[in-house]
Amino acid sequence: MEPEKDQFLEDMRWTIDWAALKLLVLNCQRCSLRQGCTQVVFGAGNEQAKLLVIGEGPGADEDQQGEPFVGAAGRLLDNILQTSGFSRRSNVYIANIVKCRPPGNRVPTPEERERCLPILREQFRRLRPKIVLLLGATAIQSILGTKEPIGKVRGTWQERGGVLFMPTYHPAALLRNPNWKKDVWEDMKEVVRLYRELVDPEHFPELKL
Ligand code: URA
Repeated sequence: MEPEKDQFLEDMRWTIDWAALKLLVLNCQRCSLRQGCTQVVFGAGNEQAKLLVIGEGPGADEDQQGEPFVGAAGRLLDNILQTSGFSRRSNVYIANIVKCRPPGNRVPTPEERERCLPILREQFRRLRPKIVLLLGATAIQSILGTKEPIGKVRGTWQERGGVLFMPTYHPAALLRNPNWKKDVWEDMKEVVRLYRELVDPEHFPELKL
């Protein structure tokens, strides 16, 4: 028997530009998360960026504002990016594993992630990033398919299909454990080093590695 055709996936594949993809995704009803949230949080940043940052899913602030990483963890993320010469306005795109806020900010289930991941794949296909920063266990496990504890994989480059992924701690975890900030700083220095090698040798000369 032929597998059932998923019209949403078909439509996504045929959209060419970001605006059409976003419109489609904003109307997504593919899982029950959409019923419990205010709006779909598509992603934000420079659509030509070579650095993609992936988080877990929208929290309360993101759900209200429709943009990823705009709450306390988001402000910390912006600081981390800024001290490495990056910003969502100029050279970074930010997206999440799931686009709708899970109730009470719980971790999205494997089924919810699976249902939502095709959207991230389409974002990935359009962006064609060279470097991806993975924030926290949900992003790391969903993308790399590893069950290794985060303390073991963070800070180690992981290659998948010619793209390099840097797993690190989620900024929300840093708010709870500020002593992990030095690890994230080491990871960001690695990202800057590779960004200079692969994307822009002149990137943020103020930072001496
Ligand atoms: N945490 C995430 O993982 N993503 C957001 O967009 C906000 C907080």
